[in-house]
Amino acid sequence: MEHTPNRLCAVVLAAGEGKRMRSSKPKVMLEVLLKPMLGWVLDAARGAGVEDLCVVTGHLEEQIKAYLGDTAETVTQHERKGTGHAVMMARDFLERHRGGKVLIACGDAPFLSSETITRALEQHNARGDAVTVISATLDDPYGYGRIIRSATGAVKAIVEQKEGTPEQLDVHEVNSGAYWFNVDTLLEVLNPDHLAASGITGEHYLTDAVAAIISIGEGAGAYAAHDKEVVMGANTPVQLHNLGELARTRIISDHLESGVNIPCTDGVIIGPDVVIGSDSTILPGTVITGRTVIGDGCLIGPTSVIDNSTIGNKVCINASQVRESTVQEGTDIGPYSQVRPGCTVGTGCHIGNYVELKNTTVGDSTYISHMSYIGDCDVGSEVDIGFGSVTVNYDGINKHRCSIGDRSIIGCNTNLIAPVHLGANTVTAAGTTVTEDIPDGAMAIGRPHTTVKDGWYQKKFGGRK
Ligand code: UD1
Ligand code: CA
Repeated sequence: MEHTPNRLCAVVLAAGEGKRMRSSKPKVMLEVLLKPMLGWVLDAARGAGVEDLCVVTGHLEEQIKAYLGDTAETVTQHERKGTGHAVMMARDFLERHRGGKVLIACGDAPFLSSETITRALEQHNARGDAVTVISATLDDPYGYGRIIRSATGAVKAIVEQKEGTPEQLDVHEVNSGAYWFNVDTLLEVLNPDHLAASGITGEHYLTDAVAAIISIGEGAGAYAAHDKEVVMGANTPVQLHNLGELARTRIISDHLESGVNIPCTDGVIIGPDVVIGSDSTILPGTVITGRTVIGDGCLIGPTSVIDNSTIGNKVCINASQVRESTVQEGTDIGPYSQVRPGCTVGTGCHIGNYVELKNTTVGDSTYISHMSYIGDCDVGSEVDIGFGSVTVNYDGINKHRCSIGDRSIIGCNTNLIAPVHLGANTVTAAGTTVTEDIPDGAMAIGRPHTTVKDGWYQKKFGGRK
């Protein structure tokens, strides 16, 4: 494998179980604001310029691997024998980064920010230390490793809650669980001699690397993070909920500060990677997630869901859902419609009530006003699709595409039996089931003829009123 010392790298520890979460997911896959905690940590690392990522997995690792895909390497820790042991599993990854710097972070502490990672690295490089631990000072340090300093303030060691003397446990500066190491030095101490099993828990602690590095004559430092949130994790479902609430309010405040209107924050969830333009309004019950980007002057909600989508300026989405799609400027959607993955809706369109779009492109100024299903279809511009029109895109085995040319008028209750292609300026009569292509400018009519029978009621029912 390639040797890449100039690329920043990270090892993220994620083998733990988290029994108290009472979940069928591994702990790091539990979500804060609908994003797995592991995703928060990996994105923070990427945001700080870390290019090569290695995740140490163990408990329910298939779920983690499925989530990561090819975005990060994984190594398995078959037996969980401590954080130091977990990093030992990544030895081959570290060997490939000799000469470089590695961030070690925990996959269950989601609020480690890119900025903190970057600042800590700056200090690490400026001081020339071999390890820099990211620390925070807490009112209640219980449960965390304590940063032990000498009389002159130099970092000497990290001591775990279970191992500390009363005097050591009195320290309020704690280990966040994230560190920068010089890879070569870390490799030198990454063995059971330097990181001996604890007499109390039997685990090999990564925290012992600090004293070990000092013992071989290299420097150790601590970077004091500005936000205490950097240490926050969850050991219970309620704590996880609290992390979510904290993130939710903080993100909403950031959007308010940047000019987004959120008149009432009830039920509003905005994910950490969402971008919203100024003068856009978000109404109650609206959930916006993934890498969604919303333009300026939009009106979103109430009760709408937007996931991983790009929404242009001045778009209205009222009580509707948009997933993995693009909606361009000035279009309005809803109430009660859904745009499923793979759609692009042009500018100035009107997608009304009870409309479902899937894997479909819609040109500019097209109207699909009521109760229609348009799937696997390319719809042109200035098209008008009448009430209750359906692309019959599935034959029970395969999906087929349709197309509708510019300025066409699709009568109410038209069925397009895919694959059919309608040219520009075509018209379908209401109730038509289209089974063949329609050329430009043509009209198609295909519906049962109405027979009117005079006096039929009187003959059938006689004197009935
Ligand atoms: C660790 C630190 C502690 C720090 C705290 C911050 C050690 C010994 N202690 O304690 O100083 O204040 O984090 O939250 O490092 N993991 C593995 N394999 C293992 C053990 C753990 O992958 O064998 C992973 C866990 O999944 C988790 C992370 O490492 O993501 C931290 O492990 P955890 O057991 O939560 O450590 P803490 O006791 O919190
Ligand atoms: Ca922990």
